[in-house]
Amino acid sequence: MNTLIAYATKYGCAQKCVLELSNELKGKVEIVNLKEKTNVNLSKFDRVIIGGSIYMGKIQKEVTDFINRNLDVLLSKETGLFICGMQEGDMLEKEIKENFPSDLISRSKTVKYFGGEFIFNKMNFMEKVIVKKVSKITSDKSYIQHSNIKKFAEDFNSKYQ
Ligand SMILES: Cc1cc2nc3c(=O)[nH]c(=O)nc-3n(C[C@H](O)[C@H](O)[C@H](O)COP(=O)(O)O)c2cc1C
Repeated sequence: MNTLIAYATKYGCAQKCVLELSNELKGKVEIVNLKEKTNVNLSKFDRVIIGGSIYMGKIQKEVTDFINRNLDVLLSKETGLFICGMQEGDMLEKEIKENFPSDLISRSKTVKYFGGEFIFNKMNFMEKVIVKKVSKITSDKSYIQHSNIKKFAEDFNSKYQ
């Protein structure tokens, strides 16, 4: 089984999650950062995992563009989807629904939220102001959901043997 993980990140949290996930997956795994490479030949992959992080309700444009360009092919593959973000509860479901096409969500074997991080010295001035105002969080916080990453890998591994 050849698996592609195609992702985007701004400050590295989604990349951390992708590396953690790739270590848990069975078979050959190739990782592509969609901010560095947009043209990916999907024909050699049986399974494709796609994800990114959420800013002001939206996933990176590179992720949306990748999905839109390849939607027909993606719908014929085994897929999994994830987001990184700091929202909680019902908002997570909403963010997933608003950032991936509904047919891709319903056809995907696994769709999960991997949590997120606030690292203030990586943010620009405006981002710091927004985060402090909206979340009321004022110092670094890591909220990566390692158990969800593990569960994602377990779902994916068990369904594709
Ligand atoms: C300016 C700003 C806006 C954000 N907006 C959202 C949001 O709308 N929803 C959410 O779940 N997380 C939001 N976050 C949290 C990020 O998704 C989180 O920090 C994530 O870990 C970033 O991942 P990355 O380092 O891979 O880009 C926001 C963070 C910043 C700095």
